[in-house]
Amino acid sequence: MIDGLRNLDPALRRAWHPLCRATDATVTPRAFTLLGQNYVVFRSPEGKVRVFVDRCPHRFAPLSLGTCEGASIRCAYHGWAFDQDGVCIEIPALGPDATLPPRAKLEGPAGVYESHAMIFVAPDAPLTSAPTIASANDPSFQRGDLPVIETRASAGLLADNFLDMAHFPFIHAGTFGAGEAREVPNYTVTRTGYTFEAVYEHDFAHREDPGVAAGIRPLIQRRRLTYRYNAPFHLELAIEFLDAGGSNVFGFFIVPVDDENVRIYSSLWRNDLDGSKERMDEAIKFEMAVVDEDLSLQSRFEVLTLPLNIIEEVHTRADKITVELRRVLSDLVTAARESAGQAS
Ligand code: FES
Ligand SMILES: [Fe+2]
Repeated sequence: MIDGLRNLDPALRRAWHPLCRATDATVTPRAFTLLGQNYVVFRSPEGKVRVFVDRCPHRFAPLSLGTCEGASIRCAYHGWAFDQDGVCIEIPALGPDATLPPRAKLEGPAGVYESHAMIFVAPDAPLTSAPTIASANDPSFQRGDLPVIETRASAGLLADNFLDMAHFPFIHAGTFGAGEAREVPNYTVTRTGYTFEAVYEHDFAHREDPGVAAGIRPLIQRRRLTYRYNAPFHLELAIEFLDAGGSNVFGFFIVPVDDENVRIYSSLWRNDLDGSKERMDEAIKFEMAVVDEDLSLQSRFEVLTLPLNIIEEVHTRADKITVELRRVLSDLVTAARESAGQAS
């Protein structure tokens, strides 16, 4: 029986996680933590991203303090150099013609993948599919990044919160939740492997629509919300304004950093702001206020565990989507444990 998911559950090593933004990977090595492990990230002059465990095999110095030399990285401590595959190619203390120890090799994650301006890492062979955001490749969308957030929280509980539809009029009373309907409309959840999608439509007050002020459209309009989830912590909400037109896509990518902390990367993709930077900055400010409302509660959960045993909590039909989250994560944990059992 699986009771719950904590940030450092070993099963999470078998999935893709964002490590950093694509712009964080440059010729200057940097360290980022994922699942309690520091990784060094850098980009070769040709643009290839390299990720290794941030530990030199010699005396375990952090490689992120080293320097890039073309596609190679040189450790800051004794100058050992490692090629793009992490193989040691030079040990200065041994002179030019030395035979290098075969174990002088950097440890890499099982997978590295760049998509929608993020660098993703799978520490061990991934069971989940690599995440994508369709709007990120659509030139009609402009992207805006929220500041990176680091906070005490459970990645599982935050994913639950992102998908939850019943908290808007309460937690978000200070932003968009004021006046939102309390009743959650009926909706369907469609699962595919370790992903799912939920769609529903409802009426809402479209205060941002200039057509309302101009008297072209009524304030109360129809919108469609599509939640897309990709295990373990990759979340997307696409809002389509069915009367005024345009879409607003919100991506929320949670990194389990250690047992009690997460890092959150979130981005907006919008095709309804006429390319305006000022309007995007406004939208980012508003989303930050919304996320702050969520985090003020999420950071204060006493137990940072997402229950996966369905009978532990009380669920209603309004919680269909977050029940599905528990099922998917439970299946992932089971699959990872079974494959670990077969391997041992
Ligand atoms: S610790 Fe890296 S070269 Fe010695
Ligand atoms: Fe929320």
